[in-house]
Amino acid sequence: MQPAGVMSGPIPENKDQSMSTYVKGLEGIIAAQTEMSFIDGQKGILEYVGIPIGELSEKSTFEETVFLLWNKRLPTQAELDKFTSDLRSRYKLPEGMPERIRSLPRTAQPMHVLRTQISALGMYDPDPNANLVEAAREKALNILGYTPTIVAEFDRMRRGLEVVPPDPSLSFAENFLYMLNGEKPTPTMARAFDICMILHADHGLNNSTFTARVIISTLSDVYSAITGAIGSLRGPLHGGANEGVMKMLNEIPSVDAVEDYILGKLERKEKVMGFGHRVYKTRDPRATALKSLAKQLASDTGNEELYIKSRRIEEVMEREVGAKGIYPNVDFYSATTYHCIGLKLDLFTPMFAMSRLGGWSGHIIEQLADNRLYRPKAEYIGPHNAPYVPIDQR
Ligand code: SDX
Repeated sequence: MQPAGVMSGPIPENKDQSMSTYVKGLEGIIAAQTEMSFIDGQKGILEYVGIPIGELSEKSTFEETVFLLWNKRLPTQAELDKFTSDLRSRYKLPEGMPERIRSLPRTAQPMHVLRTQISALGMYDPDPNANLVEAAREKALNILGYTPTIVAEFDRMRRGLEVVPPDPSLSFAENFLYMLNGEKPTPTMARAFDICMILHADHGLNNSTFTARVIISTLSDVYSAITGAIGSLRGPLHGGANEGVMKMLNEIPSVDAVEDYILGKLERKEKVMGFGHRVYKTRDPRATALKSLAKQLASDTGNEELYIKSRRIEEVMEREVGAKGIYPNVDFYSATTYHCIGLKLDLFTPMFAMSRLGGWSGHIIEQLADNRLYRPKAEYIGPHNAPYVPIDQR
């Protein structure tokens, strides 16, 4: 469509004959190779370095899973002990960071806090731009260790509570819940949170992971790449959906009201949060694992109605759009799980980010190990040979 008054002169011959077809949203386009996650969207399969996600969520820990993703193999006991102690030595924030967190407005959104503080971490790193693989791994470990402390310190501060210093004798999951609540979590809650961290750690070339790879492919720094990924994850079509699911569950007044609520959204062509996926056209295997976790925790914590509402939503959605391949994704039952663990709604997406730091870092390491600058093309569909019209004639 030519803007008014623009002559459409001869279109210059397209010198670049390699013009491929335009695929909106890069749907189905392979833009990277990875040895971390394998996803079969038709069969509902997810493996981390070949190990089925169900095996890992049952038998592994988040620390072991991150080692697996970064090293492409499971650790020996000695390697796991070393990785764990290296990570725990990074629970305590660098000098200056606690003051930064205390200076933030209490009304700041936690995902904005995370995006900003992780970006700030780069200023406390003596060599922030180093991006050889070993240096990138070190920075990734810094960010992985510091992030739970950033989230917990901000949440305590905004509630007017004393900050609880990290406890390096605790696991990643235990330590986060301890810093957040001021008391050690029960083994059940700690393990439930650990399983959530395993399930969210990596997932192929999702939008935020692609963002991280695109940024690091310019040989920029790890802090910039992770900051960009957090910005992407916050979006409601991506990691922000888990908060949207919780808002929906709170909005629906009763189990009996579910059907009308969902039918209304579908009629208005509104997306139901926690459903659908660009790759899965059947059940997301993570949703299956989180569903049983949510059921157990809902019963343990007196939140049965949340789980029953969720099941009813699932039934209505399966009947109405199941044939279109729209099923629960990772965000649907993670909402109930996080709620039952006692997390506030606006901390749900930061939980996703805390876990996905493992995957983002693994992809950053892969990209640096075999880098090629990302630079796709845009198909020009505007006018040619347009005249420059003087301003007094416009
Ligand atoms: C994550 O990529 C990853 O791996 C992401 C992730 C990860 O681990 O990193 O798995 C995490 O982001 C999970 C997704 C979380 N997002 C949501 O739950 C938001 C709601 N879901 C939708 O916005 C949607 O399903 C997407 C964005 C997830 C995927 O959308 P697509 O592939 O772009 O599909 P689409 O929007 O083109 O929808 C195709 C059809 C449309 O209907 P028609 O126009 O063809 O009639 O399906 C419908 C859509 O309206 N549809 C939905 C729906 N999702 C798709 N209808 C109602 N509710 C939904 N949730």
